[in-house]
Amino acid sequence: MKTAEKQGIFKEKNRIFTENLDSCKGLKVYNEKLVKHKGREFRSWNPYRSKLAAAILNGLNIEIKSNSKILYLGAATGTTVSHISDIVKDGSVYSVESSPVAVKKLIELSEKRKNIIPILGDANHPDRYSFLVPVVDLIYQDISQRNQAGIFISNIARYLKRSSNSILMVKARSIDVALKPNKAYNLVCSELENSGLKIKDKIDLKPYEKDHAAVIISN
Ligand SMILES: C[S@@+](CC[C@H](N)C(=O)[O-])C[C@H]1O[C@@H](n2cnc3c(N)ncnc32)[C@H](O)[C@@H]1O
Repeated sequence: MKTAEKQGIFKEKNRIFTENLDSCKGLKVYNEKLVKHKGREFRSWNPYRSKLAAAILNGLNIEIKSNSKILYLGAATGTTVSHISDIVKDGSVYSVESSPVAVKKLIELSEKRKNIIPILGDANHPDRYSFLVPVVDLIYQDISQRNQAGIFISNIARYLKRSSNSILMVKARSIDVALKPNKAYNLVCSELENSGLKIKDKIDLKPYEKDHAAVIISN
């Protein structure tokens, strides 16, 4: 396998991979492919299962250092969290999720992946997890709620380091089913700008995810 590495993300043609953590060799998280190459093990990152993979394949250009601290809102059972955990092998992924069933899976994942900190919580109330979460280098949010921009803004105000980037996955239909997706994305972007954030990029997730866009901001 020929790979070109960019900040922990490996590309081969139109496929991307992360390198499996040493503590997880041979272990899959969601039935992804494991590929061995020169004594290293890589996990294929499925853009149909992870909006972050879709955004990267569609041109997302963002730096995630191996020692970064990430606040992840809407962690679900850890599909995307697990790839971020591979990338930030010397950092941490503070993973907030409101479903107790999903958090049970996150806890199991964190037993092998020590850089995942599972948090059962409601991202509408950032102060409630402040005893666990420090100031972070990046916030990633994937929560399909009408007030997704408001949740993102309040968490950025509480946790994001100054002059840092963050990523919001916007689901157009959660904003307003009657609106064309682009209008919904623009509404969200206006709300973010009105709160003082700068929009750095907006990436449609087609063909991997319909009516979704990644919005990249800096504070
Ligand atoms: C689209 S799924 C996330 C998928 C996940 N990001 C991935 O790529 O593997 C959205 C998740 O957000 C969670 N969620 C919804 N509202 C939330 C809230 N207010 N606080 C925290 N999590 C929430 C849901 O339970 C669901 O698991």
